[in-house]
Amino acid sequence: MALWGGRFEGETDALVWQFNQSLSFDRRLWREDITGSIAHVTMLAKQGIIAQDEGRTLREALTALRDDLASGAVTLPGDAEDIHSAIEQLLRERVGPVAGKLHTARSRNDQVATDIRLWLKGASGDLRRSVRELRETLLRLADENLGVVLPGRTHHQHAQPVLLSHHLLAYFWMLTRDDGRITDAARRADALPLGAGALAGTPFPIDREFVRQELGFATVCPNSLDAVADRDFAVEYTAAASLAMLHLSRLAEEIVLWNAPEFGFVELSDAVTTGSSIMPQKKNPDVAELIRGKTGRVYGDLVTLFTLMKGLVLAYNKDMQEDKEPLFDAHDTALACTTLMNRLLADAKFKPERMKAAIYGDFSTATDLADALAAEGVPFREAHEIVGRLVRECLAKGRFLETLTLTDLRQSDPRFTDSALKAVTAVASAEARDSYGGTGSSAVRVQIAEARQTLA
Ligand code: ARG
Repeated sequence: MALWGGRFEGETDALVWQFNQSLSFDRRLWREDITGSIAHVTMLAKQGIIAQDEGRTLREALTALRDDLASGAVTLPGDAEDIHSAIEQLLRERVGPVAGKLHTARSRNDQVATDIRLWLKGASGDLRRSVRELRETLLRLADENLGVVLPGRTHHQHAQPVLLSHHLLAYFWMLTRDDGRITDAARRADALPLGAGALAGTPFPIDREFVRQELGFATVCPNSLDAVADRDFAVEYTAAASLAMLHLSRLAEEIVLWNAPEFGFVELSDAVTTGSSIMPQKKNPDVAELIRGKTGRVYGDLVTLFTLMKGLVLAYNKDMQEDKEPLFDAHDTALACTTLMNRLLADAKFKPERMKAAIYGDFSTATDLADALAAEGVPFREAHEIVGRLVRECLAKGRFLETLTLTDLRQSDPRFTDSALKAVTAVASAEARDSYGGTGSSAVRVQIAEARQTLA
């Protein structure tokens, strides 16, 4: 049943009805829609716009309807145009024609904007909680693995040894910023559109401040056109989710890599891996791969929203009904991915021996040899040249830095001392980098303490 029959003589074409409806995807806003309506009728009665007893009837029926939908005692009518029509239809079945007073001083345009913003307040809280759990897991793993060293990379080549803790904490900080962005997007969404009417406000003596308080919004949208036409908040939230997905995707890619036999840096539990229908030996990191893959769809959601809004004249246009699926999808996907990444990491087994073996003989402590010479007063550029030559010789002779003696070193430059021999191990190399933000364990301990503070 439509809410707008009066002007029409003919029936809506069935295909058009199907094309036009949004109930199939906005039904998940039922709770927010009823909550918004309860606040609205309460305000209408308080302002004398409808009678007290009408207000009471509507409020009680809406509250009972909310309970019945929650318990499953009632289901949404399949033939309604959207969630707003569906709720009004159910209300009419319960209270009769007085249900028609619910829509006084309101339009579906300010109603739908209110519903989505209310939804976003709750949804962003769920996503933040999940991001936080993942950050807690990363921090716990960083704390538990403080002694473990692995090859740090640039250009995907072994560069300098780093602590596994340091590597994991890098993701902790990315996700900390993601939390900030989600919070920020939710904060700007926290304004009440209801009362804007279709686009121009309403002649009824409404009290928007009262409705704001009832619904727990921080502010009231100050411009009725902007209130019904603004979907910045959906774009911003999806952008925040996209960036979080980018970070998850990079982590997922590293897990896939670390899980490959050539690396063997991590073993994933049976609970989060899957097998092959043909190759009996397989244990695949599907969850990490899917997180990486699903990142694309969240970016797609963002581009959909950007493109949806860019050419629309003020104020509401039906195009905007298309805002919901990408927004919901971005949220659902990001929430599932943070939850699953947490699950994946929580019982992952890191393999310190494999990491150590990967560093041995990889020349990633060459910088430390150059640093050792520089500490003896050799200009760093010259030290770099000397060690570069040394590496070339080692490669030609099949030797490693780790097995060079002081005599070997002195042959390439007499200014080498004992300190160079000590500097050449992976652990010494990592430990030496104890400047603030560096990978040395004392610096990482400082970092862990700061990370913990952000969670307090
Ligand atoms: N289902 C619509 C949407 O999601 C609700 C608003 C419709 N307003 C209108 N004037 N047709 O955008």
